[in-house]
Amino acid sequence: MQISPSVLNADLASLADEVNRVRGAADWIHLDVMDNHFVPNLTFGLPVVESLLRRIDIPADCHLMIDDPDRWAPGFAEAGAGSVTYHVEAARRPRMVAKDIRAAGARAGVAVKPGTPISQIAGLVPVVDMILVMTVEPGFGGQSFMADMLPKVREARRLADSSDVDVWIQVDGGIGPDSIEQCAAAGADVFVAGSAIFGSADLAATITAFRAAALQARAGASAGGRA
Ligand code: DX5
Ligand code: ZN
Repeated sequence: MQISPSVLNADLASLADEVNRVRGAADWIHLDVMDNHFVPNLTFGLPVVESLLRRIDIPADCHLMIDDPDRWAPGFAEAGAGSVTYHVEAARRPRMVAKDIRAAGARAGVAVKPGTPISQIAGLVPVVDMILVMTVEPGFGGQSFMADMLPKVREARRLADSSDVDVWIQVDGGIGPDSIEQCAAAGADVFVAGSAIFGSADLAATITAFRAAALQARAGASAGGRA
């Protein structure tokens, strides 16, 4: 069970300092790259991530909400990100993007928007390390969790379990104390949370509590048969 805090709703003018607030507690730092084309919002791109990675030592989990990941995704891996996730909806050659990310030394993740069925990425399982099931429409932090995405989380987990490879299931959007339990019970194992972590008084305590809640929910689901 891993927690990946998103800096989207943190103080972006002090990005490195904000990232270091979760150092020692978080497993990853989630960096939301948005291009104002694939999503309506605009955040930061490769030059900012490259600079940031020179200032932090927590593994970076880059979530690319951009057009043409075929061109851009490998650069984030080359810059030293530990994980690079692209959207299947945006990729021209989704298999090749995953292969290029891996070849550049990062874990490859593939993301699906709420309207995209898991069947669309079924063929990619052998070449990816993570499936990101979006639990809000990508673009903004602080939105409400879409509980109707839980069946997709289960489906992604079944798909991952049916393969020989170890594929993580990540959820992103509206993750907080309640939704993290539901997602963990459904089979997610990497949890992105932005406002619920950066908006809390004690970031490390929140992260620790989230991880514990996820573990407990998973244990309960395993004992009682997965919900
Ligand atoms: C939304 C981003 C998320 C966002 C999550 O498009 O991908 O990572 O920061 O923020 P919260 O946890 O506030 O929903
Ligand atoms: Zn994200």
